Amino acid sequence: MCVWAVYWRGLLLWTVGLVSLADSLWPCPLRCECYSEVLMANCSGRHLSSVPQGVPGDSQRLDLSHNRLKALGRRQFSGLGQLRELDLSDNVLTTIEVEAFLGLQNLVTLRLCRNRLKLITVGVFSGLSSLRLLDISENEILLFLDYTFRDLTHLRRMEVSENDLVFISQRAFVGLADLQELNVDRCNLTAIPTEALSQLGGLVRLRLKRLTITSLPNNAFRRLGRLMELEVSHCPWLESLAGNSLFGLNLTSLTLSHCNLSAFPYAPLHHLVYLRYLDLSYNPISSIQGNLLGDLLRLQELHLVGGNLFQVELQAFHGLAYLRLLNVSSNELVTLEEGSFHSVGNLEVLRLDDNPLACDCRLLWVMRRRLRLNFDGRPPTCNTPLQVQGRAFQDFTKSEIPSVFTCRPPRIISRRPQEVRVEEGHTVPLLCRANGDPVPSILWLGPKRTKLSPTGRIRVLPDGSLEVRYAQVHDTGTYVCIASNAAGNDTFPVSLRVRGLPSSGRNRSASYFLDGWNLVTAATAVNGSSQHTKPYPFDVKTLVIAVTMGFLSFLGSVAICFVLVFLWSQSKGQIKHTATIDFVPRSAGGSSSGAKTETSKFTMKLI
Ligand SMILES: *[C@@H]1O[C@H](CO)[C@@H](O)[C@H](O)[C@H]1NC(C)=O
Ligand SMILES: *[C@@H]1O[C@H](CO)[C@@H](O)[C@H](O)[C@H]1NC(C)=O
Ligand SMILES: *[C@@H]1O[C@H](CO)[C@@H](O)[C@H](O)[C@H]1NC(C)=O
Ligand SMILES: *[C@@H]1O[C@H](CO)[C@@H](O)[C@H](O)[C@H]1NC(C)=O
Ligand SMILES: *[C@@H]1O[C@H](CO)[C@@H](O)[C@H](O)[C@H]1NC(C)=O
Ligand SMILES: *[C@@H]1O[C@H](CO)[C@@H](O)[C@H](O)[C@H]1NC(C)=O
Ligand SMILES: *[C@@H]1O[C@H](CO)[C@@H](O)[C@H](O)[C@H]1NC(C)=O
Ligand SMILES: *[C@@H]1O[C@H](CO)[C@@H](O)[C@H](O)[C@H]1NC(C)=O
Repeated sequence: MCVWAVYWRGLLLWTVGLVSLADSLWPCPLRCECYSEVLMANCSGRHLSSVPQGVPGDSQRLDLSHNRLKALGRRQFSGLGQLRELDLSDNVLTTIEVEAFLGLQNLVTLRLCRNRLKLITVGVFSGLSSLRLLDISENEILLFLDYTFRDLTHLRRMEVSENDLVFISQRAFVGLADLQELNVDRCNLTAIPTEALSQLGGLVRLRLKRLTITSLPNNAFRRLGRLMELEVSHCPWLESLAGNSLFGLNLTSLTLSHCNLSAFPYAPLHHLVYLRYLDLSYNPISSIQGNLLGDLLRLQELHLVGGNLFQVELQAFHGLAYLRLLNVSSNELVTLEEGSFHSVGNLEVLRLDDNPLACDCRLLWVMRRRLRLNFDGRPPTCNTPLQVQGRAFQDFTKSEIPSVFTCRPPRIISRRPQEVRVEEGHTVPLLCRANGDPVPSILWLGPKRTKLSPTGRIRVLPDGSLEVRYAQVHDTGTYVCIASNAAGNDTFPVSLRVRGLPSSGRNRSASYFLDGWNLVTAATAVNGSSQHTKPYPFDVKTLVIAVTMGFLSFLGSVAICFVLVFLWSQSKGQIKHTATIDFVPRSAGGSSSGAKTETSKFTMKLI
């Protein structure tokens, strides 16, 4: 306390001395401090409620911050044509009259932050032809009107953080041809002001933070061909980017962080071939798929911190030959394989900490490079196996590594039966269980060596077995189960034989059922006679639809009749007296050949 008091007193005496010294050389307004050597008048924190008179005419800097200024009148600063820097922040300004700054043709920096401005009238900034920096953050501005900034032809940077902006008019930014940097933070905009931004052809850096947007639509950033750095962050409602949302941009740096993106936006990014920096941190992204990022061939840094990432597929970074930094700390990753990278030789910085890592052969490549890789002070730690839980990669001795960082190749343990016979129409599971470390993944190949998927009639179940539902004769063949993990693979073939049933009626209805309710569309039904040659299965559902459609088309024909009669009665002799109408009745009776159809032509004569 005491020391501070002494200090402040010293400072006060010193400033008083300085003021009186400056006073004799340079006039200075009451309550201000003027420094002639730097041509500055400092009136900061002087409880001023109006702009003081008598500021020296050749001042280059005027600090009026932390006062009680409420309003600025017209030509408030006339006579200060040399002023280059004007600080009006931390006042209580609510109104600024039109042409308030007229005459400040050399002003380069204007700070108006932390005031109470609600509206900026068109013309307020007129005369500020040299202005480079405008800071109007932390006000209560609700909207930007057309042509508000039209006189600021040399403005380079504009700060618009923390306002209540709900609307930016389409021509608000007209005239800002030199603007290079725009920061819009915490606004209540519910959409990207695409039209307004498209006026800013020279923009290089755009930061949009804390907007209440839910998606980025296509062409959201039109005509911003010079933009290099885009940051859209802290948008908790932003869940998706449209495929062409970043179309037209040629970015080198992109940040889309603290949003609600649940998938890696492959498509919107793929044209950004000059991208070097990509930050998708703090989004609930769960995986990076293989072979989808190859277009980003100049990418050097990828940050995906604090997501839900549990898998980085093999080949995920294929094509990214210059990737030198990967920051995936605080995710759910169990491993990160060397095969995910184009070449790990170029990787310099790796943040893999705070992930539940399984220390086995898949992470051996990190272990081998632990002295060369830069872990940014946070080396990865093992979560499994239990005996090394919590140990950092740096702590392992050379002799321990071969015993810990190992894998066990898979072995299929359920090797019976090797041949399965089943009658047509039955459902049969083909088992395949394997062990190994890490737990092997199971893959099934069909008789034609195609990979079988977890969906469809023949599907791979989550436990690895294959389920053939409603077996058909042509399902007969050899199915191969492949269990594989990082250490290798094991295979097991099962041959399936499906015996057909003699009854043809059953065969047909079964085949229909199996084809998955292929309902007959109107188009094919209309195709008349060609249908007769094919066996035409149907059931109650088909019948209902056919009857309904027949009924509708009948109603349609009746309606057309009425319309024609009406037209005819309205304009006698003006229209044709005959009309041909295609009419398609359905045989709702349900003859054995199904919904047999025939096309009839009705010719009507209108008298
Ligand atoms: C003006 O003086 C205040 C202290 O009174 C100081 O904090 C501020 O930095 C000064 N302004 C300039 C531009 O130096
Ligand atoms: C803008 O949003 C903030 C909080 O999100 C809210 O307090 C404020 O009332 C909003 N302003 C307007 C004008 O909607
Ligand atoms: C984020 O998205 C998920 C669904 O993807 C939704 O359940 C959640 O409510 C969203 N969060 C916010 C803050 O909108
Ligand atoms: C895209 O940006 C890069 C680097 O910023 C530049 O070299 C390249 O010419 C630009 N391409 C186009 C089409 O503007
Ligand atoms: C990785 O991301 C974290 C969190 O954003 C950050 O603190 C850290 O500096 C980043 N590390 C590198 C090397 O970029
Ligand atoms: C199984 O391993 C062999 C070599 O051991 C390899 O050639 C083959 O591609 C692997 N198959 C699968 C599906 O991984
Ligand atoms: C079942 O129908 C198919 C054609 O749909 C036929 O090739 C096959 O021979 C039939 N099977 C029996 C057992 O009738
Ligand atoms: C009708 O059948 C013919 C062959 O008979 C075929 O070329 C045509 O595509 C079919 N049209 C429709 C709508 O199914």
